Amino acid sequence: MAFENILVEKTGAVAVIRLNRPKAMNALNGQLTAELAQALAELEADDAVRCLVITGNEKAFAAGADIKEMKDRSFMDVYKTEFITSTWEQVTKIRKPAIAAVAGYALGGGCELAMMCDFIIAADNARFGQPEITIGTIPGSGGTQRLTRFVGKSKAMEMCLTGRMMDAAEAERAGLVSRVVPLAELMAETMKAAEKIASLSLPSMMMAKEAINRAYETTLAEGVRFERRLFHATFATEDQKEGMSAFSEKRPPRFRDR
Ligand code: CAA
Repeated sequence: MAFENILVEKTGAVAVIRLNRPKAMNALNGQLTAELAQALAELEADDAVRCLVITGNEKAFAAGADIKEMKDRSFMDVYKTEFITSTWEQVTKIRKPAIAAVAGYALGGGCELAMMCDFIIAADNARFGQPEITIGTIPGSGGTQRLTRFVGKSKAMEMCLTGRMMDAAEAERAGLVSRVVPLAELMAETMKAAEKIASLSLPSMMMAKEAINRAYETTLAEGVRFERRLFHATFATEDQKEGMSAFSEKRPPRFRDR
C-alpha cells in the first residue's frame, strides 16, 4: 500500500510513523487510519524493527477524528462499518513497544491515539483534550476509559464534560505523559528512548509490556500472579542468561531475542 497520509521512516531498528495531513491538523480520516493500521501491521511483522514511534508535526499530533468526513454519517453507517474498531485500534494490538511523541494539539481521537501507545513524551507546547462534547458527541476511541485511568475521574470528567484542554505541564503532573521536553528536542529525546528500547531484549520488552497492560484489566493479585509467571518465563530465554552473565562479567550484553 502506498501511503498518502502518513510517512514511515526507519532509522536503525526504530520506525517512525509521522501523521501527515498538516492542512487538516492531522485529522484522522478513514484513509489515514487505514494507512496507519496497515503500516503498524507491516512494522510489527518486520524483524528489523524493534520499537515504533508515532508522531505528528509541531502544531498537531492529531486534532481528532475528521469531523467533516463523519458529520453526515447515520447510525447505521457507523454501526455497520464498525467505525473506530475496524482500523483505529491496531496500535493496541501490536506487541512491539510504541511511543507517542506529541507536539501541539492531541485532541479527541488524537488524544485517544496517543493514549493507546505505550507511553507519551510531550513537547512543551502539547495540548491534550477530549472536546467531542462541544460538537455534540462523546469520545469514541477509548477516551472516557483510558483518560480516566490515566488522570482519575475528576479531571477526566471535567475534560470530557467541558472540552477543556490540558497543557503539557498539567498532563505531566496528572500522569498522562511520561515527561515533557522542549519542542525542539522532542524527536531527539524520543529517539533516544526508542533506541534504548531497541537495544534491549525484544521478548523481555514484550513481556514487560504485556504485564503492565494487564494492570488495567485485572485485580492486583491476578496481575501480580501473571507478572510472576512471565518473570519466571524469562528464565527460559537466552537473553536472560546473557543479560545476567554480562552483568557478572562486567561487559555489555548482546541480546539476540532468543
Ligand atoms: N476534523 C476535520 N478538520 C479539522 C479538524 C478535525 N478534527 N481539526 C482541524 N481541522 C481543520 C480545520 O477545519 C481547518 O481546515 P480549513 O483550513 O479547511 O478551514 C484546519 O484544520 C486548521 O484548523 P483551524 O483553522 O481550526 O486551526 P486553529 O489553530 O484555529 O484551531 C484546533 C486548531 C483547536 C485544533 C481546531 O481546529 C479544533 O478545535 N479542531 C477540532 C477538534 C475536535 O473537536 N476534535 C474532536 C473530533 S471528534 C473525535 O475525535 C471523535 C473520537 O473520539 C474518535
